[in-house]
Amino acid sequence: IRDDPQAASKYIADYVVERIRSFQPTPQKPFVLGLPTGSSPELVYKYLVQHFKNGNISFKHVTTFNMDEYVGIPRDHPESYHSFMYKHFFSHVDIDPENVNILNGNAPDLEAECIAYEEKIKQAGGIELFLGGIGPDGHIAFNEPGSSLKSRTRVKTLAYDTIIANSRFFGNDLSQVPRMALTVGVQTILDAREVVIIITGPHKALSLQKCIEGGVNHMWTLSSLQLHQNPMIVVDEDATLEL
Ligand code: GLP
Repeated sequence: IRDDPQAASKYIADYVVERIRSFQPTPQKPFVLGLPTGSSPELVYKYLVQHFKNGNISFKHVTTFNMDEYVGIPRDHPESYHSFMYKHFFSHVDIDPENVNILNGNAPDLEAECIAYEEKIKQAGGIELFLGGIGPDGHIAFNEPGSSLKSRTRVKTLAYDTIIANSRFFGNDLSQVPRMALTVGVQTILDAREVVIIITGPHKALSLQKCIEGGVNHMWTLSSLQLHQNPMIVVDEDATLEL
């Protein structure tokens, strides 16, 4: 628990930098990092970029897999997760674009895209550290309430609550928010050797409580993290209001 979102984000950025450095990645053995989007991780990216600019870290031998992407908006749409990632992170560090993996929400065969993504993760040796946030309904990536805890990368219809929550990025116009997304599954995340989650703000307090004090269940998909051997949840004071 940290005082505020800044301190929580800084803690995670420092931690990720330390993990990558001690891993000593090489072209033959890159560090495989799972990444989220959303306003919560934005500050984490800011601090990671700062570390890069200060010469503390290189992302040259880091391979990334993003959690999710909307279906049906162009890749260069300002609110696509592809655009988000380049705007907040990839454009500011020395990562090789060849090592960046983001689901293609415009693939002609979405199911094949999801199967290929799982295969690519496997071929990369699995994910070393998956960084994530949660939605106010406790979803992780786009694993909406009711998702199977054994789920893998697939097409998902967004919950109405998520469409409302994300409409702030689409001029508060619900009709502009994509209805579907591609997302890694709950099991894809649990397969990572380490999972680090950032949760900040009073609007996430209920989901934090449900996910860590409630039982493991598919309505609050982050609760599945209770089954993971190496999880870390970093929160600010506001997010602890219901604990
Ligand atoms: C979207 C993303 C999630 C993210 C959530 C919360 O639903 N698919 O990965 O955790 O938004 O985002 P924010 O941090 O903006 O509240």
